[in-house]
Amino acid sequence: MSNNNAQRTVTVRIQRFNPDTDKKPYMQDYQVEMKPGMTVLDALHEIKTHQDGTVTYRRSCRHAICGSCAMHINGRNTLACNTPLKNEVTHKNTVTIGPLPYLPVIKDMVVDRTTFWEEYLRVKPWLIPPDDIPEKEFRMSQDEVKALHDAETCIMCGACYSSCAVIGLNKKYIGPHALLKSFMRVLDPRDSSPAERLEEVSGADGVYRCHTIFNCIDACPKGLNPTQAIETLRKLAQKRQKLEEARRERQKHLNEPIPA
Ligand code: F3S
Ligand code: FES
Repeated sequence: MSNNNAQRTVTVRIQRFNPDTDKKPYMQDYQVEMKPGMTVLDALHEIKTHQDGTVTYRRSCRHAICGSCAMHINGRNTLACNTPLKNEVTHKNTVTIGPLPYLPVIKDMVVDRTTFWEEYLRVKPWLIPPDDIPEKEFRMSQDEVKALHDAETCIMCGACYSSCAVIGLNKKYIGPHALLKSFMRVLDPRDSSPAERLEEVSGADGVYRCHTIFNCIDACPKGLNPTQAIETLRKLAQKRQKLEEARRERQKHLNEPIPA
């Protein structure tokens, strides 16, 4: 009689690479006893703690919030901490893990995210408030809040960035993560620089560099849609002065009650 709860040993195949000692990456297999509720990150911990302390990866929150454990699992980018191990075991009884693609590898699953963060800072991801800040609070309508909500849940894990073929071609490109953040600020009625922001993302390495490949949507562990945000930025870029004027007008009423 089969027992679905019986523990089973699976092969976790990890891409190893230490630029100090290895000429090129290679795959190394580890056997892990799969326990109920185990995630891919739990399997990596098991290996690192009990089998091979040199296996290297990033992680922090273990709750899909910090974004640090994004890696390439069975051919797709996702978070190791919220991916159940049992869902990833193939018919060959293996799970294959490697670093996020297109980024320089520092060691094993740890990649260099310098360019990722540089592009992020380039779009000035912080709020630029108006000179006249409302005495009590900024008041926004439900629709205004809703328009920002999805983009706000981005955890900057890099899964979208490193799945984008434009990045893979080594093209200079701001990237879906930063464009999603720019979208959020451009649409935010509290922000006073939509035209300048749209100018920044309208160059050759901005919204027009996106070829609508959609990999970023497939990769996002939060189910966000950077492609749609990029498309919206393209449209708004055409009428940025009008948007700027409308924003000035809107900001005159930021401390007034929103009509029901
Ligand atoms: Fe890249 Fe997403 Fe555009 S994958 S090309 S940013 S649609
Ligand atoms: Fe923080 Fe996975 S450890 S998102």
